[in-house]
Amino acid sequence: MQVRATEISEQKTFEGKAFPLVLTPDNQPSLEDFLNWLAKNKGQVREQLLEHGAILFRDFPIESPEAFAQVVDAGEFEPMPYLGGAAPRDGVVGKKVLTSNNSPSSEPIPFHHEMAQVPNPPSYIFFYCDLPAEEGGATPIVLSQQVYNRFHAIDADFAEKLEDVGVKYVRVMPSEDDPSSAIGRSWRSTFLTDNRAEAEEKMQALGTIWEWLDGDNLRTTTAVIPAIRTDARNGQKTFFNSVVAAYTGWVDERNDPTQAVRCGDDSPVDEEAVLATAAAMKEDCVSFKWKKGDVLFIDNALVMHSRQPFDGPRRILASIARS
Ligand code: FE2
Repeated sequence: MQVRATEISEQKTFEGKAFPLVLTPDNQPSLEDFLNWLAKNKGQVREQLLEHGAILFRDFPIESPEAFAQVVDAGEFEPMPYLGGAAPRDGVVGKKVLTSNNSPSSEPIPFHHEMAQVPNPPSYIFFYCDLPAEEGGATPIVLSQQVYNRFHAIDADFAEKLEDVGVKYVRVMPSEDDPSSAIGRSWRSTFLTDNRAEAEEKMQALGTIWEWLDGDNLRTTTAVIPAIRTDARNGQKTFFNSVVAAYTGWVDERNDPTQAVRCGDDSPVDEEAVLATAAAMKEDCVSFKWKKGDVLFIDNALVMHSRQPFDGPRRILASIARS
């Protein structure tokens, strides 16, 4: 099977590199051909992810969630559970392939690195388009290094402070999953237990501070987490945090987004800088139209993703990997 780089109209170029890299087959391969190709080229695929941040595989015969799970397996990515993530999700193929986020379709999901609010986020996130939405529903992506550069240009003092002191996130989790909220994941499914003591043990291990509230709700304050990271592989500084996401998006009946993120020294974040950075992300992102069978590989250390609102049914599945 021959695989070549192709172009899509939504693609952008940063420092001479296509974003995302789009790969397509030259002929009509079988799923087996593609799986074999991935197994053989797994090193090259990781290098391309480091180079471009994201790869869109288009027009390969990936026709089911099970086939998508096989794709992730063929690349020998190490699967990882969604412990500590904020969104409610359902398992589709075991614990490996999940619905990307069960939150209401009318609400956008802001740019984020997957699970940036936990100490050990996944190295990769993969998406699969099982059913594109009729209207909207893209998964816009943006290079985090580019976001960092824009953030620093907007407010160098605040950018450097945030880099120095890190951030903390505050979130009230419900007792049961709340599908009406993008951050409605219950403490039970967040910590994969019904037992408070077990949840407390897991929070302690993460350095999270907690308080049990009325109605079996749980308020969590994370340990101080770095907001800006330097990627060890390429030396790039990245906007590796959920500051914009939390500040603009963590809203529901339990949560006030302006209280959802604080600097590591407990001072408030700079609203103007956060909102201007959110606008810069929109300018520099790539928002392509999903096509059934598309698979998007994202290097979660280098690229942030988001979700547009949509109409009608849509099924985009996700999988995360430690390495
Ligand atoms: Fe996500």
